[in-house]
Amino acid sequence: MEVEMVENGLKAVEQELRAAVNSDVNTLYDAGHHIIDSGGKRLRPRVALLAHLAAGGQALDQMIPLASAIELVHTATLVHDDINDHSLTRRGKITVHARWGRTFALLTGDYLFTKVYEMMAPYGPQYNVVMADACVKLVEGETLQALAAKAGTMDRETYKQIIARKTASLFEAGARMGAMLAGADEAVVTALSSYGYNLGLAFQIVDDILDIVGDPETLGKPVGLDVTQGMGLMMAQNGRKVLGETATMTAEVEVDPIQEMLLQLRESGAVEVARLQAYEVAQRALAALAEVPPSPARDELEAVVNLVIERQK
Ligand code: IPE
Ligand code: IPE
Ligand code: MG
Ligand code: MG
Repeated sequence: MEVEMVENGLKAVEQELRAAVNSDVNTLYDAGHHIIDSGGKRLRPRVALLAHLAAGGQALDQMIPLASAIELVHTATLVHDDINDHSLTRRGKITVHARWGRTFALLTGDYLFTKVYEMMAPYGPQYNVVMADACVKLVEGETLQALAAKAGTMDRETYKQIIARKTASLFEAGARMGAMLAGADEAVVTALSSYGYNLGLAFQIVDDILDIVGDPETLGKPVGLDVTQGMGLMMAQNGRKVLGETATMTAEVEVDPIQEMLLQLRESGAVEVARLQAYEVAQRALAALAEVPPSPARDELEAVVNLVIERQK
């Protein structure tokens, strides 16, 4: 029953998202629909809706704009992230900047992002503060990553800071606001926020693993890109630490240094170490759920953790 409600809720989110990109400016309409209509896992709105139900909420209809706003923030950051990462494919399609150019990709991201104000306005200041905080963290995370990549200063602590801000903050905000809208006790709101946060950490660690061992066809995006941003370097350090290896990540390599880097990383044991880290934060997400009363929605949130750990795309 609850699960069915979530599926229906996600269909409503889909309509809301499509309506949000119906600009009468053709380029925004086309580029907006290009990225929205190409799908994506819609994991963040799913988590927000499930958190609402798990917190005892019944108002999924009131959750739709909020869950859509979360997905719009995510989508906007993908459009901008692909410019920064020079990525050519996203969700199995050409990226917005590759198709329309950088200027219009920037503007499309801005457009998606500003639509969020409109959607969030009716919820009032309490919710808008949570959303704004997540957005600020996200930008800080992306900035810290670019800075660390440039300076070659990626280490485990920096990595943790980056993924906490650029990815976990949005999962956390969605789960928190879902629980808030259910009128749940502070303890339940905190538990579901912690669930979202740790799930987000696991999600990003797995994403960085998939950047090394994933299949670009299945992922719908290129692999080997995050490696160039130093995320792979971080993993190599982890691998070195545990295995006592001295994998040199500097390219004495003449041809295709990225492929070479990926090969070295796969052999360094770094991926296995990263997997252990993903399990660890996933366990924290599950532990947080133990503070939430049992329900089918809570079971689903538990299943999402496994899905995130096991995912190939
Ligand atoms: C990709 O997120 C960006 C990261 C935070 C790793 P998703 O893997 O959720 O992207 P879509 O929405 O399914 O395309
Ligand atoms: C995620 O980082 C982007 C944001 C959270 C804004 P990635 O660079 O790892 O995402 P992908 O791999 O391009 O999807
Ligand atoms: Mg990227
Ligand atoms: Mg990635």
